[in-house]
Amino acid sequence: MIEARHLHKTFGTTRAVQDVSFSVQEGENFILLGTSGCGKTTTLKMLNRLLEPDGGQVLLNGADTATIPAPQLRRGMGYVLQHTGLFPHYTVAENIAVVPKLLHWEKDAIQERTATLMQKLGLSYSEHAHAYPHQLSGGQQQRVGLARALAADPPVLLMDEPFGALDPITRDRIRTEFSELDEFKKKTIIMVTHDVQEAFTLATRVCLMDEGRIVQMGTPDQLREQPVNDFVRTFLKL
Ligand SMILES: Nc1ncnc2c1ncn2[C@@H]1O[C@H](COP(=O)(O)OP(=O)(O)OP(=O)(O)O)[C@@H](O)[C@H]1O
Ligand SMILES: [Mg+2]
Repeated sequence: MIEARHLHKTFGTTRAVQDVSFSVQEGENFILLGTSGCGKTTTLKMLNRLLEPDGGQVLLNGADTATIPAPQLRRGMGYVLQHTGLFPHYTVAENIAVVPKLLHWEKDAIQERTATLMQKLGLSYSEHAHAYPHQLSGGQQQRVGLARALAADPPVLLMDEPFGALDPITRDRIRTEFSELDEFKKKTIIMVTHDVQEAFTLATRVCLMDEGRIVQMGTPDQLREQPVNDFVRTFLKL
């Protein structure tokens, strides 16, 4: 279980995240939703200590993450960055292998895992494993980003707009394929999106944010049926 308690983060005079608290149960797909700049990425980055909060705590299975060394924490939490964040000078296979290598997996095991994941995510190993990110389409790069996050089979997956920057048709296809993978079904996932339909399709619970704060949190049905204010109604186009 992951619990955020009263998280705060300020950049200069920008109060990016203010008093954000939630808890995510094992196996949930928890989706942070909101307009650009509302604090989604900042919240996600505080969960695995890519950013340290100015106030508040994150607990992972009851342990304060501030006491867990950041590299160890991140190995248990796959992270899909906004705009893929692939290493440009690493091949596709090298990008996918980053965490298994850190964990000193055997070379054969790494290659087998890489090939399996590429196949699952619809990427041809023979065609793409030794290509560089810039030689792939945007959709293919996003698949590599997903494969990299899944490589060491972490129990928790943090995903920041994993299907962003794609045309609506490709986005829909990749999202559907991904949601049908066993990996997606069994992992605890915290995902960021600004796309209402995407959130409502994938989420067990949605956390709608505005200006650094949580406006409403609940199942898609709860938000649809009991919006707490006009912001929620407008955002969800109810
Ligand atoms: N490193 C930083 N330095 C200064 N300001 C920052 C930094 N990171 C984020 N901010 C500011 O904090 C606020 C929240 O940013 P954040 O990236 O969390 O938004 P977001 O909800 O992920 O937006 P988007 O949907 O556009 O990705 C914004 O006003 C942003 O400009
Ligand atoms: Mg963001």
